[in-house]
Amino acid sequence: MEKSTTKKKIAVFISGRGSNLKSLIKNSKLKQGKFKIHLVISNKLTAQGLKYAKFNKIKSFAIEKSLKEFENKSLSLIKKYKINYICLAGFMRILSSSFIKKAKIPIINIHPSLLPKFKGLNTHERAIKSKQKFSGCTVHYVSEKLDSGKIILQKKVKILKKDNPKTLASKVLKLEHKAYREALNFIINF
Ligand code: GRF
Repeated sequence: MEKSTTKKKIAVFISGRGSNLKSLIKNSKLKQGKFKIHLVISNKLTAQGLKYAKFNKIKSFAIEKSLKEFENKSLSLIKKYKINYICLAGFMRILSSSFIKKAKIPIINIHPSLLPKFKGLNTHERAIKSKQKFSGCTVHYVSEKLDSGKIILQKKVKILKKDNPKTLASKVLKLEHKAYREALNFIINF
């Protein structure tokens, strides 16, 4: 059987820029990659990431609605397209525990800190203010508690004296792009 037909189907949820989505799409085109980005769902109509989806002819949906409506519509798309994994990539809403249960497939997130440190927002600012020597990113399973599910993979980078939240964010973002695809290729077993 041709490899591409066995690739696991991924739905990526985004809210904005979509650089992690872009990097995942790039990886999913490799022959040896274990996954294919099959669906992109945004909770924002204007999310830049939707452009990458369209450019790459990936089915995409923008559902700028209440959380309940967003979740119901997303669940039906996930069933319809027989999605195997949901990846959150810069997705700025907190999914309900009912959604997590009903989806019945693993949901994975990337967070720009070395969890369990700095859950939530403004991670780079907080890491610098509290004089951490290192920061980085974490790919983890999504559980009902924010940024607290089982960790799949972390990558770290040194915080230099000259770093500010912006420079640190861009160093961590580069790591994120590698970490997400590595984590997915690591957990997917055929
Ligand atoms: C990333 O830093 C991600 O970890 C965080 O939001 C940012 C999204 O970036 N949750 P992008 O939309 O993938 O470019």
